[in-house]
Amino acid sequence: MDALTNIFSRRSIRSYEKKEVEFEKLVNILDAGRFAPSAGNVQDWKFILVNEEDKIEKVGNACLEQDWVDEAQVMVVVCSEPVKEDRMYGDRGKNLYSIQNSACAAQNMLLAAHAQGLGGCWVGSFDEITIRELFDIPEDVVPRAILTFGYPAEKAEEKPKLNLYDVAFFNKWGIRAHDKSEIQRLLSSVLGPLKERFHKLKNLLPSKK
Ligand SMILES: Cc1cc2nc3c(=O)[nH]c(=O)nc-3n(C[C@H](O)[C@H](O)[C@H](O)COP(=O)(O)O)c2cc1C
Repeated sequence: MDALTNIFSRRSIRSYEKKEVEFEKLVNILDAGRFAPSAGNVQDWKFILVNEEDKIEKVGNACLEQDWVDEAQVMVVVCSEPVKEDRMYGDRGKNLYSIQNSACAAQNMLLAAHAQGLGGCWVGSFDEITIRELFDIPEDVVPRAILTFGYPAEKAEEKPKLNLYDVAFFNKWGIRAHDKSEIQRLLSSVLGPLKERFHKLKNLLPSKK
């Protein structure tokens, strides 16, 4: 599956088959998190893989009013170590970059799961104190997200997504494209001059014999 197909076809899956997830697939999921971008390449994250049944059940109980969570075959608790970004970038590092870094890692993992035929869901609604206790998470580490994984036992629900008209502006706040063909017109003001410059530059270069 190419990257765009993977991104466009991923959906949150909240029901899983009782089928073990292969070790290699789990390693790929963790590795996809490891390869995520992070501010200053600080990589201020730790991923706790959970596959013990009793732990999965306890995590399920800590996820507020979400009965489906303990159906997961495996989970990853994505944690941040904000002190590391604080050291590098101060408040902005601690309060913003650290959260963004873990979000990048989490999304990479969800996409890696989907690419391997697995379903996954991001769970943000959990009791942080219980999760800390359950995994002995140190005080200066923050559990940011719980990701649930397993082979899908449901057809992915089609979630309505806003269209490009609603979410994309071109070169200035509020400048919208009505459809894909108009995107080209809106971008041509930038791409036009760039193309011209490229051609001029090309003419200055000695031609290949
Ligand atoms: C920060 C964040 C927190 C979320 N928390 C939960 C959650 O606690 N429970 C849940 O079922 N889904 C949760 N989700 C999944 C969203 O509900 C889901 O991504 C959204 O409805 C869009 O559906 P899709 O993932 O299929 O595109 C969360 C997603 C994000 C990004």
